[in-house]
Amino acid sequence: WLWPLIALLGGYLLGSIPFGVLLTRAAGAGDLRQIGSGNIGATNVLRTGRKGLAALTLLLDGAKGAAAVLIAAAISPDLGAPAAAGAFFGHLYPVWLGFRGGKGVATLLGIALALLWPAGIAFAVVWIGAALISRYSSVGGMAAACMPPVVAAVMGQFPLVLLFLAFALMVLWKHRGNLERLLAGTEPRIGAKSAG
Ligand code: G3P
Repeated sequence: WLWPLIALLGGYLLGSIPFGVLLTRAAGAGDLRQIGSGNIGATNVLRTGRKGLAALTLLLDGAKGAAAVLIAAAISPDLGAPAAAGAFFGHLYPVWLGFRGGKGVATLLGIALALLWPAGIAFAVVWIGAALISRYSSVGGMAAACMPPVVAAVMGQFPLVLLFLAFALMVLWKHRGNLERLLAGTEPRIGAKSAG
């Protein structure tokens, strides 16, 4: 149990790095939590008008999830899943931000690519497709998050079905404010400066 615990904690440390907040602050673009939706993810960084910074946030939030899994799995393949759980939880509930973290979309993409790459590909395709069609980032993220458990089930990877299902439910839970705005017709489209 010691190694899985180390993988979980190591994953948490990596996942809890709030790249969106750090990059936005470093660029002198203010406190991301006071901007737009207040979320710490790439979609909200885009609301600062800095596309490059948003792309970098997406890349790094994804990379930290993938790195956690790949590092742990290099030690032992069984450690990939606990590291994934730690990284995902770290992004959603980072101790550094009083446990008020992100919604998990980019980090889950990185995790899925590293844990079960077809699940990551399905995630990316649905994410881009649903976001392009709806022009809502939240719709893309929520639809994409539902893909990994389906792909894992089709591939017969049953422990991963449960893990990905838990991640999907947490992504949906974190988007409850977005869901309310979508139902009320007030969710901003991708690229719009304000949220809510
Ligand atoms: O990945 C987060 C995205 O789905 C929604 O972000 O800032 O519009 O709540 P936001």
